[in-house]
Amino acid sequence: MSLIPLCLAPFLFWFRFPPNSLRKDWFKELLRFCLSIGASRPLIRVQMALSLRPYQEEVVQVALRGENSIIWLPTGGGKTRAAVYVTDKHLESTDNAKVVVLVNKVHLVDQHFAKEFKPFLGNKYRVTAISGDSSEKDFFGRIVKDTDVVICTAQILENALNNMDEDKHVELTDFTLVVIDECHHTHKENVYNKIMARYLKKKLRKEGKLPQILGLTASPGTGGKKTQEKAEEHVLQICANLDSVIVSTKNYKSVLQEVVPRPQKKYDIVEKRTRDPFGDHLKSMMGMIHVFMPSAVNQSLRKMGTQEYEADVVELEKAGVRRGSRLIAQCALHLRQYNDALLINDTIRMVDAFRVLQEFYSKKTLLDETDVFLQDLFMENCQKLKLLASDACYENPKLAQLQSTLLKEFREVKESRGILFSKTRRGTSCLLDWVRSNPELQNYISAGILTGAGAGANCMTQNEQKETINQFRKGSLNLLISTSVAEEGLDIPECNLVVRYGLLTNEIAQQQASGRARAANSIYSVVAEEGGREICREHTNEYLEELTARAIAKVQLLSPREFGEKVLELQEEAVRIRMEAERKMEEKRKRYRPAQVQIHCRGCFSRVCSGEDIRTIENSQHVNINDSFKHLYNTGGQVHLERTFEDWEPGRDWGMEIKFKKVAILPCLNSIGFTFQAPNKNCEPKMYWKDVEFQVKEFNFTEYMSTLLGGLGLDD
Ligand SMILES: *[C@@H]1O[C@H](CO)[C@@H](O)[C@H](O)[C@H]1NC(C)=O
Ligand SMILES: *[C@@H]1O[C@H](CO)[C@@H](O)[C@H](O)[C@H]1NC(C)=O
Ligand SMILES: *[C@@H]1O[C@H](CO)[C@@H](O)[C@H](O)[C@H]1NC(C)=O
Ligand SMILES: *[C@@H]1O[C@H](CO)[C@@H](O)[C@H](O)[C@H]1NC(C)=O
Repeated sequence: MSLIPLCLAPFLFWFRFPPNSLRKDWFKELLRFCLSIGASRPLIRVQMALSLRPYQEEVVQVALRGENSIIWLPTGGGKTRAAVYVTDKHLESTDNAKVVVLVNKVHLVDQHFAKEFKPFLGNKYRVTAISGDSSEKDFFGRIVKDTDVVICTAQILENALNNMDEDKHVELTDFTLVVIDECHHTHKENVYNKIMARYLKKKLRKEGKLPQILGLTASPGTGGKKTQEKAEEHVLQICANLDSVIVSTKNYKSVLQEVVPRPQKKYDIVEKRTRDPFGDHLKSMMGMIHVFMPSAVNQSLRKMGTQEYEADVVELEKAGVRRGSRLIAQCALHLRQYNDALLINDTIRMVDAFRVLQEFYSKKTLLDETDVFLQDLFMENCQKLKLLASDACYENPKLAQLQSTLLKEFREVKESRGILFSKTRRGTSCLLDWVRSNPELQNYISAGILTGAGAGANCMTQNEQKETINQFRKGSLNLLISTSVAEEGLDIPECNLVVRYGLLTNEIAQQQASGRARAANSIYSVVAEEGGREICREHTNEYLEELTARAIAKVQLLSPREFGEKVLELQEEAVRIRMEAERKMEEKRKRYRPAQVQIHCRGCFSRVCSGEDIRTIENSQHVNINDSFKHLYNTGGQVHLERTFEDWEPGRDWGMEIKFKKVAILPCLNSIGFTFQAPNKNCEPKMYWKDVEFQVKEFNFTEYMSTLLGGLGLDD
């Protein structure tokens, strides 16, 4: 259920998360918990023999000696199997051994459990999977005591490390081996890195016996760095964060290449549209909004129809809110919507772009003259846009190319299986619509959507995901249309065609996508515009992939002493910075009393509650416990969990209601819908929970229930 501020109710219907992976993971689990209580888990009783390929043997050697290491193998190379092997040997040879396997996506918990750890280790050892929807999560501490191998998301472990309740609490030192899947995420504020930060702190203080670390990755990436030197620094940083050396195959590269063949790469380049009346008209409308705003505001905006422009209007909206100008804030929100339409025009059909705008404006409430201006502007141009959008002779030429790329492969290869990666969830549904309304494609292709697990419009539940993948395996579907985030780690059958369409991603995502094309003679195609940004990025990524390999080789060449010194230096630095940040945070939290900070709606600017009404749950969710708050919003609509920048809706939802312990229903506030005003009116309002200058109290269930019952007169 999402919370909809009453002032904007009719037009806001999505819910968005702030860009904070921590919060997202936690919430996903909570939601999934609500959605899929009682989901069954396959029981596999047959013990399978565990044997490794030569290159896997090679890369596990360091780990088998009990030393920390990162295993670097490409997608499809069998990293998880290698980890199962290490776990097996570790359990055999270590007294009081206890292993935790950490993953970064909820679906990987079950996948690793059912496909890898349970079948190979289940007969000899107690293996437990703890996902968001299992009640075991509430007894994490106790479960850990009675089991040999625990598989869970990093967030669940992090919560348990923080939780002082005896049933839930664990210490890092309770484990003897920590396996970290997709360990290149162990960086900055990622939850993997928070867990490893505890490890490093203990290591530097020489506290307790620390577990062995085993990281797994298909690519540590270059962290956005473009020079060899910086890439090496990044790889070293990852090594330092994981306190590990990085291991890859040296002697069996050819075997690896046989097992994981690289697809043939193809660029399907399209010429630019010569005329684009629909896009031009959108731009002229945006120009009118520019003129409506105070002059000089528009000077700071970059080129329309680009992600730079999007970033600029996002900043502009914030600036508007800070300065208390609803005019600027609202215009910026609407400009973002127009820009979105331009971005859609650039990849999908014009009608899709038009529809997005039409939906946006159909739900709008008019609060002041800014709203009236914006609404009128759209209404006056609506018919004209519609007409231009339906003119086939200016249609997006990329689609024609996409059609021929798909047809070529699906006609030639019987039993073809393909994945089409697109940028956003909305993109996937527009593309599905396009495939289904295209008679020629219908002869060969039966397409379905695969997006990340979650709840809400265009989102899938884990079961739906499984069902779609199953149909794909059986062949009743032969083309999956997917967002680039959905695919990481999903167990999808081999494909002979992978198409990347209108995508700008980093080198890691690119490698992971190409890793999906694993069948013999498979094709990896990039459909993009001549001289466009996608092509440019694709080439950059190829270069970065090479750069990563070179950087790793260089790091591996360091003498153990030199490596050790560098890593130690980075670790000391990281611990120092983290402690300093914690100190600053504590100071900031003491600046005001909660009741002094007023919370305003970001859409209509009116006050809705104070800091006194807010509590946190497990340090990550912010709920409002004041009963009168419920009168300020409606519930309804769907819940979105994806957090890609491009896919953000310029609505201003407040958050969603969460059910706590199956009894209390509490509105959980997303900071994107609010601003936080300090008592000193000269201070600019804060916009994120992480920046608020008061101590948010921890939610106390007992207390909440007793006031609630007290309020109903049921106390005694
Ligand atoms: C910016 O606004 C001024 C009027 O305020 C207008 O003359 C100018 O064309 C605008 N620039 C752009 C790039 O829209
Ligand atoms: C709309 O999309 C087409 C095709 O990709 C592109 O050539 C054109 O520049 C786009 N229009 C705008 C205004 O971005
Ligand atoms: C609940 O919110 C209302 C309106 O903001 C406020 O007047 C009231 O004092 C709050 N109640 C409590 C118990 O804080
Ligand atoms: C929660 O509230 C109850 C009742 O007011 C109190 O006894 C208990 O100590 C509180 N728990 C925490 C962790 O503060």
